[in-house]
Amino acid sequence: MIHNKERRFPNNFLWGASTSAYQVEGANLIDGKGPSVQDIKKVPEGTSELDVCADQYHKYAEDIALMAEMGFKTYRFSISWSRILPKGTGEINEKGVQYYHNLIDECLKYGIEPLVTMYHFDLPAALAEIGGWSNKKTIDAFVEFASILFYEYGSKVKYWLTINEQNMMTLVGSLIGTSTIGDVENPLKALYQENHHMLLAQAKVMKLCHEKVPGAKIGPAPNISLVYPATCKPEDMIAAQNFNAIRNWLYLDMAVYGYYNPIVWSWLEDNDATPDIEPGDMDIMKAAKPDFIGFNYYSTATVEYSDGTETSDTKADQQKGMAMPGICKSVSNPYAKKTEFGWEIDPIGFRATLREVYSRYHLPIIITENGLGAYDKLEDGDKVHDPYRIFYLRNHIEQMKLAIEDGVDMMGYCPWSAIDLVSTHEGVVKRYGFIYVNRDEFDLKDLRRVRKDSFYWYKKVIASNGEDLAD
Ligand code: BG6
Repeated sequence: MIHNKERRFPNNFLWGASTSAYQVEGANLIDGKGPSVQDIKKVPEGTSELDVCADQYHKYAEDIALMAEMGFKTYRFSISWSRILPKGTGEINEKGVQYYHNLIDECLKYGIEPLVTMYHFDLPAALAEIGGWSNKKTIDAFVEFASILFYEYGSKVKYWLTINEQNMMTLVGSLIGTSTIGDVENPLKALYQENHHMLLAQAKVMKLCHEKVPGAKIGPAPNISLVYPATCKPEDMIAAQNFNAIRNWLYLDMAVYGYYNPIVWSWLEDNDATPDIEPGDMDIMKAAKPDFIGFNYYSTATVEYSDGTETSDTKADQQKGMAMPGICKSVSNPYAKKTEFGWEIDPIGFRATLREVYSRYHLPIIITENGLGAYDKLEDGDKVHDPYRIFYLRNHIEQMKLAIEDGVDMMGYCPWSAIDLVSTHEGVVKRYGFIYVNRDEFDLKDLRRVRKDSFYWYKKVIASNGEDLAD
């Protein structure tokens, strides 16, 4: 292995940022788009509907021009499945197909590589009606959707991501609005049956991508947080291994090696919840190989031994601790500060997570999300001072450089988010972008775009290929 002791980012490093269709586009039911599970969910109290968001559907040219001004090498966005296939399968919405041609062409005009997520939390509602991922027809529908994407955009898009945060849809689906499981006898089994079908869908689509789009690269995009044991008590270590397996490795072991993580399998067996595997399923899993690993990183997690008496925490989200009675109990990390929204901040944990993922899977890594949500304010005329975001990102980029020195093969970095958008469950006021969108939770104002301080800072970072991280 060649270690990059100079800690330099490769010359072709993909600097950029991310968004997802249902959080940024708006226009959620126009120009033929069908509803997704996000459009039919009850939005959390005090947060806006998804009909406008940042209105990128109408303002994409302006947004891409701003990303080009920052020097983006890539833009990670997702394609709304129900904008292309309003019912999830069958009839194609040509206006939707055209929209993404326009968006992709706009990126390419500035030399920005599109990095396309095929499915980001927005299953078509019509598929939810037939049972969502519990129904094997949804696997076929995803393959159909993927074939359309490869056919339409394969000549323009080199980098593909299959499913955003499948692990979070499985662990906290009801909070992010993706859960479709009703009243069933064994909910854990139902959940991991859905999960199995999603893993199969991903494997089929990775294989299809290699067949249909020669030269294209495809990978998964789970949310990975290395899990620390709260102490060196051996029982805490077992708890950390349990949660690492359930939260992280299940998804990457299957995507990369095509097998079920043994710790997870044994836990499912104990709960009579192993998924039904049909003949041929595991051959499909094994035949699919990702070219890289994309993952979202916000923070690490810390757990301790659980004696099984605590109750699950219904407020857990992508980053706030989860209690899994008998498996592990989340505790807060006394060494980590927290964001205004209670998410821990752990840049060194980012290095540790990168090292661990690379050691386990030996594939190039692109960070598909990383960032800080805050109540940014428009002030001083038309300025947004967000030193806390610069601080957060700088510390993470420094640790990513150290990970490169450690031997990790990094191919890109796409923080969340390119532009302000609607959070999964905490509204528009939880802002992540480099570009401020002038709207409040319910008052749409003029949706004007304003460059935040972090915009100018990130522009310098990209121009210096990660060398100049100063303010
Ligand atoms: C990730 C998701 O979990 O975190 C994004 O992929 C999400 O869709 C991001 O927006 C930040 O989370 P939140 O809950 O603050 O929006």
